[in-house]
Amino acid sequence: MNIAVEREFDFSRQDFAFIREMMLRETGISLGDGKMTMVYGRLCRRIRELELNSVGQYLQMIGESAVEREKFVNALTTNRTQFFRESHHFEYLQHKLIPEWKRRPKPIRIWSAGCSTGEEPYTIASVLKYEGLLDGGWDISILATDLDTQVLSKAKKGEYPITDSRGIPEPFLKSAFVRGRGSHEGVFKAKAEVQHFIRFQQLNLLHEWPFKTQFDVIFCRNVMIYFQRDTQQTLLCRYYSHLRTGGALFIGHSESIGEVGSKLTNVCHTGFIKP
Ligand SMILES: C[S@@+](CC[C@H](N)C(=O)[O-])C[C@H]1O[C@@H](n2cnc3c(N)ncnc32)[C@H](O)[C@@H]1O
Repeated sequence: MNIAVEREFDFSRQDFAFIREMMLRETGISLGDGKMTMVYGRLCRRIRELELNSVGQYLQMIGESAVEREKFVNALTTNRTQFFRESHHFEYLQHKLIPEWKRRPKPIRIWSAGCSTGEEPYTIASVLKYEGLLDGGWDISILATDLDTQVLSKAKKGEYPITDSRGIPEPFLKSAFVRGRGSHEGVFKAKAEVQHFIRFQQLNLLHEWPFKTQFDVIFCRNVMIYFQRDTQQTLLCRYYSHLRTGGALFIGHSESIGEVGSKLTNVCHTGFIKP
């Protein structure tokens, strides 16, 4: 049964097909048939701001402007995240990986791939801080990347509403974060000496990676879920080749490791070690 939907702006099936094809090609994000309303909802505000009449007009505009294309992609990424999300990965970091690093100190490289607004890399840094790895003597860095430039600028700023701090266990909150005062009342942020270890960078995971780093830990959680299976597999192979021996790969709770899993040891729920 066809239900006619009253919309403020014209949005045709062809417009939707064009958007799906473009998002898949440029970002790997696969928008299912049922996402037409979501896409419309996310583009509406911008179309209104630009005083256009239809999604078609907007698509013409993104074809002509790289700046607008960036805004368009930003609007269509899904950025939901939180501090200590899927906390068993941080428990594994604290209780298995860090003790091993302390026994045999070495430079430590960590990557949060698809870091969104920064809660994931700040969570990692808070565990390192609590365990004393950010207090001097360690060569340590966290690379945090995302495709979406808007979430990255929030991540770089690193200020969050105080209510979000409820998700952070007290010891980590105390050692790594500060409460805002005066004009920063109502927000909290990572201490400067914690923030110092995180480098935020824009990166499309589908493109060439501008580094040869071998990582001790790669977090790529709740990113591949939006990709098709072959893209997921290609990405997982690339992560594998960027992991040091003994390095860990963490993926999201509903994501699958696929064939690469046969080369890795499963050490916790969606956590793997390169033997
Ligand atoms: C749902 S968030 C996950 C955030 C965090 N990893 C977590 O688990 O809480 C997914 C992020 O992946 C990013 N993303 C989607 N496609 C990407 C691509 N091709 N390259 C890089 N980042 C991408 C989105 O912009 C978004 O911020």
